[in-house]
Amino acid sequence: MELRAVRGMNDILPEEVERWHKLEGAFRLHAELHGYAEVRTPLIEPTELFQHQMGETTDVVEKEMYSFERHGDRLTVRPEGTAGAARAYVEHAVHAKEPVTRWYYLGPMFRGERPAKGRYRQFYQAGCELFGDPGPLCDAETIDLVATFLQRIGIGDFVVHVNSLGSAGTRERYREALLAHFAPRKGELSEDSQRRLEKNPLRILDSKDPRDHAVSRDAPSILDLLDDADQAHWQGVLRCLDVLGVSYVIDRSLVRGLDYYTRTLFEVKVTSSDLGAQSTLVGGGRYDNMVAGLGGPSVPAIGFAMGMERLLTMMPDVPARRGPGCFLAPLGQSGADRALLLAKQLRALGVSVELDGRGGRLKSMLRRADALGARLCVILGDSEVERGVIQIKDLVAHLQEEIPLEGAARVLADRALEASPGGQRGAR
Ligand code: HAM
Repeated sequence: MELRAVRGMNDILPEEVERWHKLEGAFRLHAELHGYAEVRTPLIEPTELFQHQMGETTDVVEKEMYSFERHGDRLTVRPEGTAGAARAYVEHAVHAKEPVTRWYYLGPMFRGERPAKGRYRQFYQAGCELFGDPGPLCDAETIDLVATFLQRIGIGDFVVHVNSLGSAGTRERYREALLAHFAPRKGELSEDSQRRLEKNPLRILDSKDPRDHAVSRDAPSILDLLDDADQAHWQGVLRCLDVLGVSYVIDRSLVRGLDYYTRTLFEVKVTSSDLGAQSTLVGGGRYDNMVAGLGGPSVPAIGFAMGMERLLTMMPDVPARRGPGCFLAPLGQSGADRALLLAKQLRALGVSVELDGRGGRLKSMLRRADALGARLCVILGDSEVERGVIQIKDLVAHLQEEIPLEGAARVLADRALEASPGGQRGAR
């Protein structure tokens, strides 16, 4: 029997990993620039955490979680990062240590969705969660962080959608308004939506079923029901976005597929066809009740997560993978001994080195250096060692020269690390 990877779960081979590193490095830099520090939470959490926080009647919880029982515990492989981050925030009483906490994370998430281009069962998210600031200013800053990040990695063709869901009181009134809208047309709704009608009519608005779209089209908008405090917050967010120069569209139909949101919601979508139907790159919003819901104090929060595979599809190509900075081609015993030492010195200076220890002919070693895409090739034969020199072939500039062996490591390091786009010194 031929064993293959699980459907919707992909291998990422070394030639693709370069682009992943670049994206991850850019995200870390950008998040840290905004005061975020990395948090790493477990891949597996109690099933209850997701059921209670994401909502019993969401698609993710009802149909997509990888849940199992082990040693009497009900466990789930995390479908997202927010609930785990909030659980860790409460468990470690972080609120008692600092008034505002900014955490970012990178890692795999698992949802048993139907695989398609841009939609996987194991996918990677990069996300940020901010705890402790209730103000509209930080909502706008969070959205701006996302927009500037996308620009930073070369994605320009996107639209920021924003909406507000109001706080708990507003949502209860909205629930009633939705019920009044949908109940007379119950028979036209999908089976899922009919079932969810009483419990959670908001979910009908983000259903993927075309039967629900038709009935949702003229549903009331929550923006018309915001109370004064919600309205002030919402207007504050829009004003700050204007101050920051972030372009956005107000999307009254945006509700997002998870139950924990309050007030500000946002998504970033692309219009390009590269992603097929999976046009949402980023999703996020405020979730002011989660920390208290997990037994912590009343601490407001906001965050977002981006789908890394989707970002990579949209991110322009980076220059092809560069090989080692230096390829060492020794000839003879004393050449090989000196090469061993030189490789060690170069690595200590931050240069990636590949030493050809096969003892082959010069021609085949040069061919190997070329195939690897090495920047420099150093030829070190017994006669060179005797004369106290090395031969350097610059495989990019196509030049060859002889330099003294003494102090060669420094000279080679400077050349190999010479600032070039994607050069090793600047790369993370
Ligand atoms: P989400 O909208 O479920 O939100 O996911 C965020 C992003 O993850 C999506 O916009 C998409 O790019 C990517 N994504 C989701 N599912 C898949 C999949 N099956 N395959 C590939 N990519 C996928 C959340 O997860 C929230 N935790 C975001 C958040 C953080 N809200 C507040 N803080």
